[in-house]
Amino acid sequence: MYEKFYGLTRSPFNLSPDPRFYYPTLGHNEALANLSYGIAKRKGFIVLTGEVGTGKTLLIRYLIEALIKTKVQYAYVFNPRLSSDDFLHYIVSDLGVKDIKTTRSEMLLQFNHYLIDLYRRGSTAALLIDEAHQLSSELLEEIRLLTNIETSQQKLLQIVLVGQPELDETLDSIELRQLKQRVALRCRLQPLDDADVHGYIVRRLQLAGAGERAEQIFPEAALKRILHHSRGIPRLINAICDSALVNGYARREPAIQPDQIEEVLNDLRLEVAPEGRADSGKHDQAERAMLLRSLMRIAELLDPELSRAAKKTGRPAEHVQVAAQRVGAR
Ligand SMILES: Nc1ncnc2c1ncn2[C@@H]1O[C@H](COP(=O)(O)OP(=O)(O)OP(=O)(O)O)[C@@H](O)[C@H]1O
Ligand SMILES: [Mg+2]
Repeated sequence: MYEKFYGLTRSPFNLSPDPRFYYPTLGHNEALANLSYGIAKRKGFIVLTGEVGTGKTLLIRYLIEALIKTKVQYAYVFNPRLSSDDFLHYIVSDLGVKDIKTTRSEMLLQFNHYLIDLYRRGSTAALLIDEAHQLSSELLEEIRLLTNIETSQQKLLQIVLVGQPELDETLDSIELRQLKQRVALRCRLQPLDDADVHGYIVRRLQLAGAGERAEQIFPEAALKRILHHSRGIPRLINAICDSALVNGYARREPAIQPDQIEEVLNDLRLEVAPEGRADSGKHDQAERAMLLRSLMRIAELLDPELSRAAKKTGRPAEHVQVAAQRVGAR
């Protein structure tokens, strides 16, 4: 719609995770390096977490491109709400195994043979699970059992769990300590910092064909507003910038003005960061997450029953209070 007006050849701020638009922040690069290293060195179990919209699915897609180049076989589960039988069938089939057997035991045997064969040929297989915070405890147990497929020296299947921060909490729970002990690498994606937000926007505009104009479309004052309201979350940056360009086109404005950013935020009904706390949002979020995790831990220590309830409601403070009263503390 606005592309021609801004001299672009394609849409710069699509919401879908397109690896061609990958912007290499230090954090994203480190996470990617961890995942690639973990798979190449057959570390077995790797966990990547990050807040909503920070680029986890994009990283998986980027990683998949690297796996294809290095001829590592992979299965990609993007919706983990499956029964354990369907899950097993799905991964075996996604790995390209032919003539999949129907019974569970036969399927497992077939899977085992497939992995051993791959190993003999000097290759390995990776199981990539997105949205892993949605995994049921039944499937998590299934996955733990899959890590048992190994030779005396090597893990035959490398498993990457990717999900929102609740996944960390799940893995920290007492019931899953067996699974947690098997995690070889754990990393967390953070929102972009100020310099990266700027670089990210310019890079996307360049990749969309803006050329030298990439630095001028969002002047300093507009960038500040985007930084403030997006809190460095790439998906929010995309949504704000895309709407701002639609707005700019309607107004025939070659450079986006700060009031346009405010206008699109209202249109998008995006949660607006409180005034005057430009970069504290990130810290608040991180602190809140830390506090929540600590409260979950306390609930867990006080009473496993309450800990389960706290996880369900997502309000650990209330449950901790109840548990504390129960044990006579105030
Ligand atoms: N480093 C990056 N470079 C380029 N684009 C990025 C980067 N990180 C995130 N994005 C973009 O931000 C948007 C959201 O990314 P993505 O869908 O991967 O987030 P997510 O962490 O998987 O979110 P959710 O938790 O909702 O699944 C996508 O458009 C993606 O392309
Ligand atoms: Mg995602």
